[in-house]
Amino acid sequence: MITHLRSLAQFSLEELSILIERAIVLKHEKQQGILHNVLEGKSIALIFEKPSTRTRVSFESAVYGLGGQALFLAGRDTQLSRSEPLKDTARVMSRYVDGMVVRTHGQEVIEELADYATVPVINALTDLHHPCQILSDLMTVLEKKGQLDKLKVAWIGDGNNMANSWLEAAAILGFELVLACPEGYHPNEKILKWAMERNDKILLQHSPEVAAENADVFNADVFSSMGDEGQEEERLKAFAGYQLNQALLEKGQPDAIVMHCLPAHRGEEITEEVLEGPQSVVFDEAENKMHMHKALLEALVGGHTAS
Ligand code: CP
Ligand code: NVA
Repeated sequence: MITHLRSLAQFSLEELSILIERAIVLKHEKQQGILHNVLEGKSIALIFEKPSTRTRVSFESAVYGLGGQALFLAGRDTQLSRSEPLKDTARVMSRYVDGMVVRTHGQEVIEELADYATVPVINALTDLHHPCQILSDLMTVLEKKGQLDKLKVAWIGDGNNMANSWLEAAAILGFELVLACPEGYHPNEKILKWAMERNDKILLQHSPEVAAENADVFNADVFSSMGDEGQEEERLKAFAGYQLNQALLEKGQPDAIVMHCLPAHRGEEITEEVLEGPQSVVFDEAENKMHMHKALLEALVGGHTAS
C-alpha cells in the first residue's frame, strides 16, 4: 500500500479497487450507525493554502468519524507564509501529528513535504492534481453505473488539475476518456503522454460534441481554477461553446450521469438546468468525498488493510 497520496499515478488497479470498495462499505456502515475508532488518539493536520468547503469539511468529518482529531491550519497563519522551509515544516509536523492533508499551489510542495515527512502526506489539491476528488468521483461512478471499465467518460472544458487526475485514473482503470479542451488549455503534456501510453481509449480533441457522443459520464469544472485569478475574461472567451448544457447532454447515453466537483458557476461551464436536472449526481458526489477520505485515512494512517 502507498505511504503518501501524491497523485493517482502511484496506484495499482488493485489498490484503487480496494480503496473504492472500502469507501462504499464505510458509507453503508455509517448509514447503519456502525462506528469506527481506527484514528483514536491520533491527530491529522489539514494545511490549506487555498480556499475549500468540501475537501476541508469532509476530511475533518472523516477524521472525527474515525475517532481522531483534525487540526485545521490556514497556510497564511503558519510560518510557511514567512518562508519557513518545507523540509523543516514536514519534519516538525511529523513530531506532532499522525498525518498531513495539504492543499496548495505547486505539486512540488506536496513532493517536498512527502519526501521529508515521516507521517503520511495527502494531496488535497494542487494546480496539477486533485486525486482525492477523482477517487471519490470513481466511487460515485461505480455506485451509479455498477462498473468503471466499460464506460465512456467525457471531460468538457479546461485541461486542469481535475482533467489530469481523470487521465491518471483512466490510465490505471482502462475506461474510455474523451476530453474536449480548447487550444491552449490542454491537460499537462507529460501526464497526457503517460496516460495515453497505457490506455488507447484516451482521446484529446477540441469538440465538446465528439466528447459527448454516447457518453456515460459527463464532467464539467470551472473555466478558471484557483490560481487562475486575473484570467477570467480571457478564459470566458476561450471556453465559449464548452458549456455543459441540455443539448450537449442529449448527445450522451439517455442514462448518462452529470458530475461536477463543485463549486459550480451556473451559466458558465454548466447550465442551472443540467446541474439541477435528473441526471446530475453532484450532491452524492460531494457526500462521497467524506466516505472516500475515511477509506484513505484508514489505509494511510490507521494501518487498515482491507482486501
Ligand atoms: N470539490 C472540491 O474540492 O471542493 P472544495 O474546493 O470546496 O474543497
Ligand atoms: N479545478 C478547480 C477545482 C476546485 C475544487 C480548482 O482547482 O480551483
